[in-house]
Amino acid sequence: MQPKDWLDRWQMSQIGFHQSEVNCYLRRYLNQFNLKPGDRIFLPLCGKSHDIAWLAEQGYEVIGIELASIAIEAFFNEFELQYQQFESDRFILRKSGNIMLLEGDYFDLQAEDIEGCRLVFDRAALIAIDEANRARYCRHLRDITAPGTDMLLVTLDYDQSVMSGPPFAVSQQEVLQHYQPDYQIDFLEQQDVVDEQPHWREKGLSVLLETACRLSRR
Ligand SMILES: C[S@@+](CC[C@H](N)C(=O)[O-])C[C@H]1O[C@@H](n2cnc3c(N)ncnc32)[C@H](O)[C@@H]1O
Repeated sequence: MQPKDWLDRWQMSQIGFHQSEVNCYLRRYLNQFNLKPGDRIFLPLCGKSHDIAWLAEQGYEVIGIELASIAIEAFFNEFELQYQQFESDRFILRKSGNIMLLEGDYFDLQAEDIEGCRLVFDRAALIAIDEANRARYCRHLRDITAPGTDMLLVTLDYDQSVMSGPPFAVSQQEVLQHYQPDYQIDFLEQQDVVDEQPHWREKGLSVLLETACRLSRR
């Protein structure tokens, strides 16, 4: 997947990954991270997710990065939020209250862009990255976040020979491989979600495992 492929998907409204409600693992496990109101939460590859608005409503400062202007503008429009727009050398920034969404490439982020961030919420970000770039994605996340920045990660795993991604299959073993050197990893919950969308079985999958993990940065 090249950036243009994602932009095309947004252009053609091919956004089956978008959830029309707040992510269930975020609701269930956020309180495990001992955050305080005003703490900053980073959502890589954020789309127009309802999680952004929900976290902001809980009193957190939310920063997201997303390639597609369509997604970012749709987010503000759908939640009826007025925003201010700025430009930096690398991003277009749109800000409304305690929400800041950066339009641009995740790989261009620098530590200063998400300074002070206490938690990363990765839902459908790591699994949106193809295998060739996944180690780079994880290294970059470690490089731009400070020690002490924990993460709630939601992944999917399935037989990649049956269906090509995205979403790409990321096993628990692969999560350990990328993140164990820098994080203590706890697998919180795993469920088979193959019946949540009819097209998974139509594509030939019989099992689609969704896993929520808590990563505590060493
Ligand atoms: C599978 S979607 C997940 C969106 C969101 N996390 C959610 O839960 O709905 C992946 C998103 O990442 C964006 N994206 C892909 N590569 C990116 C990159 N290098 N930098 C920023 N955004 C990217 C895509 O445009 C897409 O909206």
